[in-house]
Amino acid sequence: MEERDKLFLSNKAWALEKLQEDAAYFSELAKDQKPDYLWIGCSDSRVPANEIIGAAPGELFVHRNIANMVVHTDLNLLSVLEYAVTHLEVKHIILCGHTGCGGIKAALSNSNFDLLNKWLRNVKDVFYHHRGEIKLLDSEAEKVNKMVELNVIEQVNNLVKTSVVQKAWLKRKSPKIHGWIYDMETGLLNSVVEKNFESEIDEVFRFTNL
Ligand code: CO
Repeated sequence: MEERDKLFLSNKAWALEKLQEDAAYFSELAKDQKPDYLWIGCSDSRVPANEIIGAAPGELFVHRNIANMVVHTDLNLLSVLEYAVTHLEVKHIILCGHTGCGGIKAALSNSNFDLLNKWLRNVKDVFYHHRGEIKLLDSEAEKVNKMVELNVIEQVNNLVKTSVVQKAWLKRKSPKIHGWIYDMETGLLNSVVEKNFESEIDEVFRFTNL
C-alpha cells in the first residue's frame, strides 16, 4: 500500500467513527465555526495543537510557524489574528512554545539554513536582547529551553503591540493572551505569562497604534 493510500484509509476510519457516534456530526460542524481559542504554536510535528489540549474540531483556530513567532510584517499571521480576533471574537489567544524547539536551536547556532536564515533572524534578535542571561547557562539544552521561555514572553508582547489586539481590547476588553510552554519530556503544558486588557491598560494607551 502506498503512503498516500494509508492516509486516505485512516481518514475514512476516522470519519466513520465520528458518524457512528453522531450521524449529524459533520453536517452540524459544516454549518459554522465559533472557536473560543486562537492557538499560535510551532510547526513541530510533535506538538499537535488540538490533540495536546483535547480540543475537538471547531474549538481551536490555529496558526503554526517555525518557533511560534509573531512577526509584525507576517501577513499570514496578521490575517489569522485579524480573522480570529475581529471576526470570530475568540476569548483567548494561546501562544505556545515547546522545550527542545528545533527553530530555537537553529537560531542559537551559526549554521547556514539558507532561506530559513531570514525567518530565524527574528529569533536571533530575541537572543540578542537576552544574550547576557543566556550565556551564563552551562548546557546547550538549558540555553535552548531558556530561549524558548524568553521567546514565548517576547511573542506575547508582540501580540500586545498589534493593532488587532489593541482594537479588540478597547472595544470588548478581550481576548486574554496566554504564553505557554509544552514540555516534550512530560507531555504537559506550563503557563509562563498571561496578559489581558486590565494588566496592560497603561501600555495600550501609551503605545496604541490603531
Ligand atoms: Co519548535
